[in-house]
Amino acid sequence: MRITISVLKADVGSIGGHTLPSPAMLAAAREEIQRGIASGVLLDGFVSHTGDDIALIMSHERGNDSTAVHQLAWRAFQNATAVAAEAGLYGAGQDLLVDAPSGNLRGAGPAVAELTFEHNPVKTNKVRASESFCVFAADKCGPGAYNLPLFLSFADPMYSAGLMLPKLSKGFRFKIVDMDNTEGDSVIELNAPEDYYQITALLRDNERFGIAEIHARGFEHQPAAAVSTQRLHNIAGTYTGKDDPIAIVRNQGIFPAPEEILSTFAKAHYVGGGARGSHVMPLMPVALNTAVTGLYCIPLVSCVGFSLNGIGQFSGNSVDFFNNTAWDIVRHRAQEKGIALREQGWSGASMLPYTELEYGGFRDTVEGLLSRFRFEHKTPHVVPKK
Ligand code: 13P
Ligand code: MG
Ligand code: MG
Repeated sequence: MRITISVLKADVGSIGGHTLPSPAMLAAAREEIQRGIASGVLLDGFVSHTGDDIALIMSHERGNDSTAVHQLAWRAFQNATAVAAEAGLYGAGQDLLVDAPSGNLRGAGPAVAELTFEHNPVKTNKVRASESFCVFAADKCGPGAYNLPLFLSFADPMYSAGLMLPKLSKGFRFKIVDMDNTEGDSVIELNAPEDYYQITALLRDNERFGIAEIHARGFEHQPAAAVSTQRLHNIAGTYTGKDDPIAIVRNQGIFPAPEEILSTFAKAHYVGGGARGSHVMPLMPVALNTAVTGLYCIPLVSCVGFSLNGIGQFSGNSVDFFNNTAWDIVRHRAQEKGIALREQGWSGASMLPYTELEYGGFRDTVEGLLSRFRFEHKTPHVVPKK
């Protein structure tokens, strides 16, 4: 069978600030997922939150961009929004940017990542005898938050020793999006290992370039990873919320193992997106259903892992990867890195550059001052050297 994993995530309201959704909001979203399973739109579904974002993880046979699946997700988010509004929660419906999207939800606000692949988990299947995948969800993060960890997972044997194995050594193809091009999905495909340095030249810029997909070379019908690379503020034209990306990553066999992929998150690398969407802070790995309560909204990332049975069900079993004492030391390190950067407040690298300041108000403040600048000395006309 051809299976699609669809993950849609949205911030539709939270308690006491940008912290977490209420249990009643999650229940409303779960009810819609259950209706989707009962009516046959979905094979299975799982609902959780990371910070103030609700993630819907669904399996079905309807392919990417299915209207039925995306509309179901929209209803789940709308129902949760209604609960949030009724309770007077903060930012009810924040990420639902349009009134009634008619088809799929790309461009309507929620983060979307989808993977479709051939699923035949039998012992004789030489490529995928079993299917395991994980879903990363990040809150208070810029769109390229996974650029570094996913690149290291799929291209650097210092992190993924498995890349030295015959099954993986053909390498991976990276589809990268230029998120500044709002006319459409402007993409380039580059191959690791040959294009290693070109890929890093793009991925170093987390606010402009983002990994959209990763494919196993040599197994062309087996996509490895999909990442949401919609920029909320580009869609809306003005700041509405942080991008807070999600990623679906298949693992084991022809792909890196979870322990290799997760090892790249031990850095707690700095990303854009802390408080007011405008500060640089480290990305802290946390358990599913963790609230954002840290200083300057320290960005969070969760990771839930699943196995898929023969008929596309997965939610009976899951593993919450970062919900383990093994990650405590990384959480402490993230706090220390965050506190260290906050010591320099608004200065230089601790905040995002002018063009990336997500709260337009910061820019308005600067623009209001620009009109008050005056010339003291006119620059003399200079003839450049021949
Ligand atoms: P969210 O986009 O997660 O609501 O975060 C907004 C923010 O910048 C909080 O400081
Ligand atoms: Mg919020
Ligand atoms: Mg959020």
